[in-house]
Amino acid sequence: MRSTIFIMPANMIWAFSLLFIFALSACQAETPDYPEREVPKGVLDDKEQQAAGQTLFSQKCASCHGKPSEGRSARAQFFEPPAADFTETHYRQVDPSYLFWRIETGKTVEPYLSQGSVMPAWSPYLSSQQIWQLVAYLKSRSE
Ligand code: HEC
Repeated sequence: MRSTIFIMPANMIWAFSLLFIFALSACQAETPDYPEREVPKGVLDDKEQQAAGQTLFSQKCASCHGKPSEGRSARAQFFEPPAADFTETHYRQVDPSYLFWRIETGKTVEPYLSQGSVMPAWSPYLSSQQIWQLVAYLKSRSE
């Protein structure tokens, strides 16, 4: 009897440590390494840059990610993984370098390649200034 009292908590500690390790590795899988970039001065808060980003977004991104007025598009959930919903408030906190990298490389890099993402890589079609305009728009949109 005495021994079971001591064995139970030990087992539970072991179980919790395992859970903790799994949780940690899951977090790492969600944020892969991406290059740190210096954000050009004033772009993120500039209304004109945000507006230019909104125009680009309507032309090239809204068909999958949803029009500015509708939030998430009806098409978004048909993708696996689904297209991101940029009205979600956590995009306020997202690192601009991460958004830049995702727009630049899309599905061509891991882990998105193996996940079967349909997100196009835009670096062949957009200048880095245009990508920063999109980042400025995405960050302002969630506010
Ligand atoms: C063909 C549909 C499609 C188009 C067009 C598209 N995307 Fe995506 N995008 C996706 C899907 C699906 C995902 C989710 C899978 C992934 O992360 O790769 C995604 C993910 C993203 C992410 C990562 C979000 C996150 O939280 O990690 C960003 C940023 C993004 N898209 C921006 C854009 C921008 C900007 C454009 C337009 C220049 C665009 N996308 C055009 C389908 C698309």
